[in-house]
Amino acid sequence: MTNHAVVIYKSKTGFAKKYAEWISEALKCDIKENTKLSLDDLIQYDTIIYGGGLYAVGINGINLIKNNFEALKEKTLIVFATGATPPRDEDLQKVWESNFSEEQRKKIYTFYFRGGFDFSKLSTANKILMSMMKLKLKLKNEKVPSARMEKEIC
Ligand SMILES: Cc1cc2nc3c(=O)[nH]c(=O)nc-3n(C[C@H](O)[C@H](O)[C@H](O)COP(=O)(O)O)c2cc1C
Repeated sequence: MTNHAVVIYKSKTGFAKKYAEWISEALKCDIKENTKLSLDDLIQYDTIIYGGGLYAVGINGINLIKNNFEALKEKTLIVFATGATPPRDEDLQKVWESNFSEEQRKKIYTFYFRGGFDFSKLSTANKILMSMMKLKLKLKNEKVPSARMEKEIC
């Protein structure tokens, strides 16, 4: 016998987890954290909702769905991603294209929810990465006006 629906999430700083909790409360359905889950944990459900944060455009833990797609493709599959990027169509198109094949995109309903940054909860590696990204952006912003100025002066 199959069950109604399950919400599965993988979350580093709590944003995808919060959305997953809200969805499971609204649907009154099971919720599971994606830690060592396998096909056996999913196959019993008719509807599988997966949510994860975006990290360098990749949806955290999405391989659980992708690696089991053949066995799951007749079910209702819904994926949500949480990210810091504003929800612009062209950016989101890139997110779905880089995470899923064409066949998967046709079958999976995708949603984007605004998350945020909780620096205090990031791992040391991610803290370093974010600091480097900030520095890169700062340098880029400083370069743009001076390059423009150079052009105008010469
Ligand atoms: C290293 C790193 C890379 C990130 N890359 C992206 C990204 O490509 N696109 C985006 O929208 N947000 C990005 N974010 C922001 C996270 O997706 C955002 O904080 C998300 O809400 C985290 O969800 P979680 O706490 O459930 O893991 C990144 C954050 C970190 C720390």
